[in-house]
Formats: sequence, C-alpha cells, structure tokens
Amino acid sequence: MKKIAYINERIKSFNKKIYVPGDKSLSIRWILLASQAVGKSVAHNLLKSEDVISTLNTIKKLGINYKINKKICEIYGKGLNGFNFKNNTIIDAGNSGTLARLIFGLLVKSKNQIILKGDKSLSQRDFSRVINPMKMFGQNIKSKNQKLPIKIKGTNYPRPIKYYENKGSAQVKSCILFAAMKTPGTTIIKSVPSRDHTEKLFKYLKLPIKISKNKKFDFIAFRGTKNYKGFNYTIPGDISSSSFFIVLALLTKNSKILIKNVNVNKSRTGIIDILKIMKAKIVLKNKQKYNGEEIADIFVKNSNKLKSINCPLKMNSRSIDEFLLIFLVCATANGVSKFNNIGELRNKETDRLKFANKFLNKIGVKTIMTNSSFKIYGNPKLKLNKTYKIEKFDKDHRACMLSFIAALSLGGKWIIHDIDSINTSFPNFISLLKNLGAKIS
Ligand code: S3P
Repeated sequence: MKKIAYINERIKSFNKKIYVPGDKSLSIRWILLASQAVGKSVAHNLLKSEDVISTLNTIKKLGINYKINKKICEIYGKGLNGFNFKNNTIIDAGNSGTLARLIFGLLVKSKNQIILKGDKSLSQRDFSRVINPMKMFGQNIKSKNQKLPIKIKGTNYPRPIKYYENKGSAQVKSCILFAAMKTPGTTIIKSVPSRDHTEKLFKYLKLPIKISKNKKFDFIAFRGTKNYKGFNYTIPGDISSSSFFIVLALLTKNSKILIKNVNVNKSRTGIIDILKIMKAKIVLKNKQKYNGEEIADIFVKNSNKLKSINCPLKMNSRSIDEFLLIFLVCATANGVSKFNNIGELRNKETDRLKFANKFLNKIGVKTIMTNSSFKIYGNPKLKLNKTYKIEKFDKDHRACMLSFIAALSLGGKWIIHDIDSINTSFPNFISLLKNLGAKIS
C-alpha cells in the first residue's frame, strides 16, 4: 500500500448512504470471549483490521483455532481452561492497546509464561493500569518501567479482588472482568463509567454479572467460574469510524449523509451529544435493540451555524476516541470551546492532546493547552489555502484520518504520511471517501 496521500481540493457536496465496518471494541471482545467458550462461535461483520487480526493471531498462539472468510469468522473455543501454549510464547499485540490490556485478564491462570510485546507506539504506553489489579489477582508480571515487552505468568489460585477503577478506562475494567471469569468467588469493581460492551456481552451470555449505578460510579459484581457455550454474534457498525463521516458531512457545504446500522451504545455516543449541543443537525433513525446493544442509522446534515462548547465532564469517557474530530469542529465554531480533565488523551496511540494542539496551530487556529485541559478559539470563516504536511504522529490511525477530514472539508494542499496506519481500525476509509467524491492521490 502507498504510504503518502495527497489531497489538493475540498470534497464537493454529497448526499449519500454508507455502511462503515464492524465495531473494533466489539470485534476484539467477541474474539476473546469466543476463545473462552465451549465449542464453535460464529461472527458476522467482524472488522478485518490490523488490531483485530492481531487478536486472532493471539488466540491462535494460545492454542485456539479459527477460520475466517469474507462473510464470517468461526472460533473453536475450549472453555475457560482451554488455552494451551509453550513456555515463553511470544504474543505480538501490534498497535492494539485493547488487545494488550484485555489479554492480561485471560492469562490470570496460565501455567506457562507469555512474553507480550507490541509496536513502537504501544511500547511507549502505560501498563501499570492493568499490572496493578492483575497482581492483586495473584498474576506474576515482570516488566521494565511497566511498559512492553512484559512477561506474564498466571497463578493456580487466583483471588477475587475489589478494585476502584478511577480513570474511566474500559480496557482496565474489561481486563479485570476477564480475569474474574476464571477466578472463583466474586470480584467487585467500582468504576468511573466507561464503554460497557464487556458487561453487555456478559449479560448476553447470561453470565453472573450484577451492575448498579449512581451519578458518579458504576458498581459491578461478577462471580467466576461459569463456562458458557459458543455463541453467534453480528457486529454492528463502529461509531468511532462513523464519526469521521459525521464530521465530514457536518463541515461540507450542502452535504448530507446516512450511516446505516451503527452501534449507538450510550457509552460511545458522546460525540453526537456534543455536536448537538454545538447545534449540529444529527438525527438517529430506526433505533433498535441488537444482541444486547443498540443500533441506529445516523443522519447528518451540513450545519454552518455551529457554536462553541464548554464540554460537560461526563462526556469525556463517552467520546474518548472522538476528541480529535470534536476539536476540528470547534475550530470552525463560533466562540471559544473548553475541555477539562482530558489528560487521558495523552495516553493514546500518540499524545493526542499535543497532536491536536500542533495540528490546530498549523491550520491557523489559536489554542491554549495545559496538562489536562484545552481551549480552542473557533473561527467560522476558517478556510485553508497553504500546504500542510502531516508526518509525525506515531502512526496514530485516528490522527491520520483526522487529517483527511480537515483537508477535504477546509481546503489547502495536504501531504499526509504513514497512511498505512489507517489499517489499524478502518481499512476501507479511503475508498469510502472516494465513493463520496473525494479526490485523493
Ligand atoms: C477501548 C477503550 C478506550 C478506547 C480504546 C478502545 C476498548 O481506551 O480509547 O480505543 O475497546 O475498551 P481506555 O480504556 O484506555 O480509555
């Protein structure tokens, strides 16, 4: 695949219906859960991106077989104690933080040692967030500075834990829940709310999970060690992938888009609520329940009267992967937008707060950034006519795709490097853009 894209003109107005690929969080979770089921599981519309392929390669290395073709993926699970692998087996999580964090949980009882590694970006990220709770279960973990590569060996007698998850990290919560599946007794998590796909999948599988909530926290109790049968699942479209098209339609004159069958789980739709507060015209149509999740078609119309936002804190974890796009919209809105407590953005595939700051300054937008807050001085007349080179972003797929959306909606001449990073989450991103009329070479 070519590594550099050139965009020299804005996209013309469009009015289209599109489908985006399956949700990444759900695809990874389905594979990991199917690997623990007894017997065959089948998924339709599994995302076929690099993070998901890394997950399939991982279960294979741990002794679980699968088959995949254009339409379906089948996994032949062997139950909660079904992993079988040699001592010092190496697992490569590639770029996937979700795989790397969640797999700790499934290795809580592994008899042999695993060496977990990842690509350059993943090797710079923090693993103390999962190492701490996993040590409480009794897992043996050896690392330098709590970064990859990490050696992981399980315990014969995992202990249930009580844990306060204070970052709003679904990866940490899910890692603990995966370990709890294999741990006798009840594990209890008090958690700042975050995406709840794992909990929903556990309910779908009728596993013994109990959840209560108050305004600030979720309280989750899970009792191990119940085996479950293989299960079929159809993965709905990914709201994070949809968001690039939501914003493109919003910022492109006279344009409309209908994005079909998207997972609109409340813990993921912060971007829609934020953009609506900013006066965007977005409507969810055909809402329906779907395998324990919720799906809808998302209809978006170009809006030229967007106003700034003082982003409510409760939106942060609900839009954690969409902030780069939200910041771009704020750059074109009337007034100063403010975001607080968003330090977690510094712990993503790249430091996204730093990237956003540089990016917006490059396109002439004034910002003020602190360690965990961001202010954006919007300009509704923002139009670009210089040359913009995007090259240092740690191959962060979302930073790369953001650059395409900025180029196509705001103009200017763009040279975007490392576009192969897009394969992490959204391999047909560029072909979908071209179907809408984008000129990309
Ligand atoms: C994810 C959780 C989020 C998100 C990531 C996917 C998941 O990370 O940023 O892209 O599937 O659980 P954190 O748990 O670190 O917030």
